[in-house]
Amino acid sequence: MTFLTLTSLRKQYGSVAALDGIDLSVTAGSRTAIVGPSGCGKTTLLRLVAGFDAPDEGRIVFAGQQLADARSQVPAHKRGIGIVAQDGCLFPHLTIRQNIGFGLEAEASVKNDRIAQLMDMVGLDPAMLARKPDQLSGGQQQRVALARALARKPRLMLLDEPFSALDTGLRAATRKAVTDVLTAAGITTLLVTHDQGEALAFADQVAVMRAGKFAQVGSPREVYSRPVDAATAAFLGEAIVLPADVANGRADSPLGVLPVDDIAYRGKAQIMLRPEQVTVTRNGVQGGGEGAVGTIAEINFCGPTSDVRITLGGDPQGFSFRLDIPSRETLVAGDRVTIGVAGTAHLFRQPGF
Ligand SMILES: Nc1ncnc2c1ncn2[C@@H]1O[C@H](COP(=O)(O)OP(=O)(O)O)[C@@H](O)[C@H]1O
Ligand SMILES: [Mg+2]
Repeated sequence: MTFLTLTSLRKQYGSVAALDGIDLSVTAGSRTAIVGPSGCGKTTLLRLVAGFDAPDEGRIVFAGQQLADARSQVPAHKRGIGIVAQDGCLFPHLTIRQNIGFGLEAEASVKNDRIAQLMDMVGLDPAMLARKPDQLSGGQQQRVALARALARKPRLMLLDEPFSALDTGLRAATRKAVTDVLTAAGITTLLVTHDQGEALAFADQVAVMRAGKFAQVGSPREVYSRPVDAATAAFLGEAIVLPADVANGRADSPLGVLPVDDIAYRGKAQIMLRPEQVTVTRNGVQGGGEGAVGTIAEINFCGPTSDVRITLGGDPQGFSFRLDIPSRETLVAGDRVTIGVAGTAHLFRQPGF
């Protein structure tokens, strides 16, 4: 069931088209991530859905009710939508209890029970209720912000880069805790982030945003494995893009003849591989499989992986590409290697290429 529908949303700030025709359908109980570089319009989109700002054009429909178009808006506090901002935005002079209870209208005992229940939901010790926000860690503050947003039992939760101020380990743990709470409560969630790993791990549906538009909307696997173009591919992770001659579901490429995911296409095209599809083995090493032959032009050891540039064939000026490979064997510049490919290459449909 479609729960939230955004239709042709536009928002202009001076000469900047912050939102340039956004369409999105979100089903009830699902998790959608909107991922894109800084400045692409993510916060603007959440502000329009929350009701902090109005669209210039387009419509927002939520649970069968029109929330906004260019002429009329349902006020933010009547939308039943919760929001957690990047820095949590807790009131610094209020205690944690007052922060969570803010806007909760009930008698004291009911309110206290609800606050205790919310602290439990977000995994915080009730002893923290008397503290002020600056006496909590960043991750704990984000959990309080979530508890405050959950207090009014929103039907939709908006998360604006809520984990980006946290360091890596805490970030993953907080994300997991927040995801579990929202899933257990069955709350439909819209997360915006500039972190592609976070978007792919969090969501059922990912919308890749670029300059006020969605380049692609799909499942995490779909946008990662079958991106619409090279820019989307590169934004979501490392991609090896190769020129190819394609016919009958096979691509003749610098890495040999590879199966492609487009049976119908015929002609010149760009194809893409993800690094996990590629193996690089030093020639002469046992177990080295079939594949194209190349030379390590550069190698940079980064711990578990090494960043290499490989030149194909014997020509140092020939076709070359970069990728991260597991640091399984010690490779050095000048080593001759065999490049194996597993699985299917993805074809970017670009007629006229
Ligand atoms: N209130 C505003 N006034 C003028 N320009 C704005 C305003 N809010 C956002 N913008 C511009 O709109 C674009 C999108 O901003 P924003 O939605 O904050 O992006 P993101 O959250 O993806 O980083 C940016 O170019 C930003 O400078
Ligand atoms: Mg933002």
